[in-house]
This record gives sequence, structure tokens and C-alpha cells, in this order.
Amino acid sequence: MEKDGQMQAIAALLERAAYPKQAHYALAALQDVRALVGEVPEAALPVIAEAMGMEVSALAALMRDSAQFTPQLEAGHRLAVCQGAVCIGRGGGELLAEARRAFAGTAGLSVAAGHCLGQCLQAPAASLDGEVIAPVDMHALVRAVAALEG
Ligand code: FES
Repeated sequence: MEKDGQMQAIAALLERAAYPKQAHYALAALQDVRALVGEVPEAALPVIAEAMGMEVSALAALMRDSAQFTPQLEAGHRLAVCQGAVCIGRGGGELLAEARRAFAGTAGLSVAAGHCLGQCLQAPAASLDGEVIAPVDMHALVRAVAALEG
């Protein structure tokens, strides 16, 4: 389904279902959205959050904490976020902390502090299963981990 079509279908579902505006119905709404369009698109989070009377950040946290909405990978994938001096100077410490939070529920993926990857000119850097990503930010990490699925 193309993006506009997805968003229309989701809006129609939320209107039809008229979930009570209570956080504990949010998981049901997320499951229904995924059943309808095959995923919970990031662009739909504000619409779903509004329908459920929640903040977008609370809805995102609910998804992150639910094993149903976090990627489940084959065991043994390793993400290392460089903690060398140059990368630290360019936000590598915050990136590691954020990656640990974001991927805490992702089975099969370990997140660790890494040594200098020799990519200091492009810092911050990370490696996923030995593949260097530089410069790297949270979006790039989320995309790279998503690409491991399937
Ligand atoms: S310090 Fe991070 S790549 Fe060199």
C-alpha cells in the first residue's frame, strides 16, 4: 500500500474503531494498524497518539517496550559505537546511550562500546557486524538494524 493510502486507511480505522482515549487501548490500536497495513509507519504515530489521547513520545515508548513491536533478529548481531576520543567529542557517548535505549528490546542484537575504527575524519562512527558506518546517527543505526531483519 502506498504511503498516502496507508495514512488514509489508518485514519479510517481509528475513526471506525473509536478506541477509548486511554493509554491501555493503545496497544490494541497499534496491533490493529499493523494488521491493516503490515507495519506501524512512523508517520502514523502522531495520528494514532492523538486518537488515543497520548503524547507521541509515550506511544513511541510503549512500542519500544513491547516485544511485539521491536525487531527480533537471529542471534549474534553486534553493534559497536565507537568511544574513541574523536567520536566521543562528536557525540559518540550520547549515541551509544541512545542506541542502548532504542535497541534494548531487540532480541539477537548486542550494543557495545567500540574502539577507534580508523574513521575519525568521519566521526562519529559505529560498526554493525563489522561493517563500518560513518558518519553515523540514530537514523542510520535504525535503518541498518532494520536491514538485518528478514
Ligand atoms: S575515534 Fe571513532 S573512529 Fe576514530
